[in-house]
Amino acid sequence: TSTGTPRHFLSIDDFSHSDLRFMLDQAVALKQRLKDGDRPLLLEDKVLAMIFERQSTRTRVSFDVGMRQLGGETLMLTGQEMQLSREETLADTARVMSRYVDAIMIRILSHADLLELAENASVPVINGLTRRAHPCQIMADLLTFEEHRGPIEGAKVAWVGDSNNVLHSWVNAAELFGCELTIAVPDEYAPEKDLMHDINRAGPKVKLIEDPREAVEGADLVITDTWVSMGDTDAAERRRVLKPYQVNTSLMALANKDALFMHCLPAHRGDEVTDEVIDGPQSVVFDEAENRLHAQKAILCWAFGVATN
Ligand code: CP
Ligand code: NVA
Repeated sequence: TSTGTPRHFLSIDDFSHSDLRFMLDQAVALKQRLKDGDRPLLLEDKVLAMIFERQSTRTRVSFDVGMRQLGGETLMLTGQEMQLSREETLADTARVMSRYVDAIMIRILSHADLLELAENASVPVINGLTRRAHPCQIMADLLTFEEHRGPIEGAKVAWVGDSNNVLHSWVNAAELFGCELTIAVPDEYAPEKDLMHDINRAGPKVKLIEDPREAVEGADLVITDTWVSMGDTDAAERRRVLKPYQVNTSLMALANKDALFMHCLPAHRGDEVTDEVIDGPQSVVFDEAENRLHAQKAILCWAFGVATN
């Protein structure tokens, strides 16, 4: 167990620009070192427990592989097989697990539950997605944009589709990094109160509109995500209402010529994005998925207070 306040990674807006810039720089360095065949065992003897209350491909594999590359170990758990499913509280779970492991990564829909876990853990807790936020994803997105196009500061970003956790973390990142973020979502799926609060706090550079065409005009980056997030129950209605928000070739044509396309994946091809766009030359979705690994290694090193150079 560690002493003092653990370095949790829960939400983009918990951090300063320089904290996140530091982590992004570390991610770039770690990625380069891996490509050079240099695998520093910075987290030797560290154990990361991962609790998944929901499905995951990228998050579970990238955290698992990332820890191994750094010399650490992982425990893969699901809420279902833990006493969590028999009403042990997250607070008690946090207290117990803090006696065994060095950090906890959790995917859980309720953000309040994530906070309860973090408040009661004496080891770092990392948010692997809640209904409110997906901060690890946005670190990978920022890394990906910068690899292809240079500094994110001042970039024009368009979000098209549903208002969800990934958007929420992007709103926080836009505020911190000073990008222009234009969000096109239908009125029916307008941002919830909490997200609306953060959109307003971000100032005039973050705009909420309804027209997807207007949003992508002149954009350097076009982002969408599934129309049906984990926990949504009205799939058919969402697909009907969100249909005009599909990112297809004619929508992409309104963005800058060299605009990138991103999607956190998994994609629902033919719904929020067409094959032509996601498999097209502007799409960087697999770089984005790869960068989960590099970004999270930097987040892990930061959480453990380990210098990477
Ligand atoms: N983007 C993302 O978090 O993917 P998984 O749900 O597969 O982890
Ligand atoms: N918005 C999606 C992201 C999945 C990685 C969801 O919450 O299901």
